[in-house]
Amino acid sequence: MAHSDTAEPTRRDFLYIATGAMGAVGAGALVWPFVDQMNPDASALALASIEVDVSAVEEGQSVTVKWRGKPVFIRYRTPTEVEEANSVPVADLPDQNARNSNLPADAEATDLNRSAEGKEQWLIQVGICTHLGCVPLGSSGDFGGWFCPCHGSHYDTAGRIRKGPAPENLLIPPYEFVSDTTILIG
Ligand code: FES
Repeated sequence: MAHSDTAEPTRRDFLYIATGAMGAVGAGALVWPFVDQMNPDASALALASIEVDVSAVEEGQSVTVKWRGKPVFIRYRTPTEVEEANSVPVADLPDQNARNSNLPADAEATDLNRSAEGKEQWLIQVGICTHLGCVPLGSSGDFGGWFCPCHGSHYDTAGRIRKGPAPENLLIPPYEFVSDTTILIG
């Protein structure tokens, strides 16, 4: 009796510690950076569409903006990133659908179908992992794109899932370039 009385609390303690540690990882993974000048105020968050000026974003840089309460990653890709994304046959991709709100639902996940029309260096996508909704980290993972630390999903430089539990490519939101450096999202 004495043995089980002491063993049980020990096991419970362990479970609390394990749960606490997982909670800490999850909270850390959900932190995502804003660019202040592009951070819409509270009233803007309610709007269906936002305009983003990307004139200050340089090649190789990304910004994250908030649209309808969700992070949207805007990346000015390097030629190497575009080249890498283009070199992958669609047949090798776990999810062969473009997941591009601006294209027909059956569009293939080529790099051209994922990037901005006529501006292939730009990639605009909803920054929410398609597994269970964490926010992936940029410029990381085995494919140089995004990595979701929650359960280890690796996305490539076109935001396509390549390895890990996520079932789909990162979603491309509805958007258009309304000028050379202004994107209307939504
Ligand atoms: S939420 Fe991203 S891998 Fe699970």
